[in-house]
Amino acid sequence: MKYRTLGKTGYQVSEISLGAWQIGGGWGKPFRDETAESIINQAIDLGVTFIDTADVYDGGKSEAAVARAVKKRKVPIKIATKCGRFVNPHVSAGYTPQALRKFVENSLQNTKLETLDLIQLHCPPTEVYYRPEIFGLFEDLKKEGKIAHLGVSVEKVEEALKAIEYPNVTTVQIIFNMFRQRPAQLFFAEAQKKNIGVIVRVPLASGLLSGKYTPETTFAAQDHRNFNRDGSSFDKGETFGGVNYELGLQAVEELKKALPGRESLAAAALRWILMFDAVSCIIPGASRPDQAQRNVQAADEPPFTPAEMKVVGDIYERLIKPVVHQLW
Ligand SMILES: NC(=O)c1ccc[n+]([C@@H]2O[C@H](COP(=O)([O-])OP(=O)(O)OC[C@H]3O[C@@H](n4cnc5c(N)ncnc54)[C@H](OP(=O)(O)O)[C@@H]3O)[C@@H](O)[C@H]2O)c1
Repeated sequence: MKYRTLGKTGYQVSEISLGAWQIGGGWGKPFRDETAESIINQAIDLGVTFIDTADVYDGGKSEAAVARAVKKRKVPIKIATKCGRFVNPHVSAGYTPQALRKFVENSLQNTKLETLDLIQLHCPPTEVYYRPEIFGLFEDLKKEGKIAHLGVSVEKVEEALKAIEYPNVTTVQIIFNMFRQRPAQLFFAEAQKKNIGVIVRVPLASGLLSGKYTPETTFAAQDHRNFNRDGSSFDKGETFGGVNYELGLQAVEELKKALPGRESLAAAALRWILMFDAVSCIIPGASRPDQAQRNVQAADEPPFTPAEMKVVGDIYERLIKPVVHQLW
């Protein structure tokens, strides 16, 4: 495993880290503590030093499982969590310093930690990025010792660019993958100038880029891949990177053919992301321990050749860019 610095936090984070949204055994399935524990342990055994969770993932069970497993280990692991998605209805007016303070305190309770290593605003409405008092609250929480660092998880590049104007924003979590390439155009350079840690989420386009799905694949009733393909429940783009499933499958087949030297598309998709120096770490989600294991191993794949980079770029330009590029 190699490590990169997470921007201004100074944390040394594993290039391949872990996303903990589905560690209970999969989206829309009952949360199993044993599954979560074995996924987390598998990842840490292989050198993962950074885990991303959120207060809303299985109502706090993910946060609790991550903190419980990490406490049993001797190696230092940084836990990033998120707040804000319990605001209901999810509108800017619901984002108040009081409400956010309460969410942070709940996360401290769920994790039984004294200080949260990194708290991220969890894809708030765009207007929230224009409210300095929200960002100011986290300075108070820092002084009180409740958090070490503030980050944001964003939907759009414009939100990322606005967020990093606040000096206390240390990290940006953003979707970046073979089907979602826009952050590399402008945002990455700006992030590097300001020493912002870049955390890449949804690196496998919700599993689509693993290459294992077919037109016949079905998902659990409560799995967002069933009900959020068009963004009706949360943002368009959080599921399958915003790409229409059938078009995604076509692009996946082309990628497989265009990268004949690569055994696994999942590993290739992760290694492709690591070609970008602005990226601090990737947080692939895993619903089983063997997925976490294979994802970590992707860091050892050979770098992409210029010819491989070009074919991935060409497939994106031809099939994906015309339909989604400007959305975020
Ligand atoms: N708004 C936000 O801030 C936000 C939103 C989304 C995600 N996140 C964070 O980002 C993390 C990653 O995003 P994500 O989980 O949505 O998407 P992802 O990492 O692109 O996809 C994860 C899914 O891909 C499949 N998979 C993973 N590894 C695999 C492998 N080696 N081989 C084959 N299939 C594999 C699994 O699907 P199956 O279960 O079908 O096997 C898994 O559930 C999350 O866990 C979460 O921590 C944050």
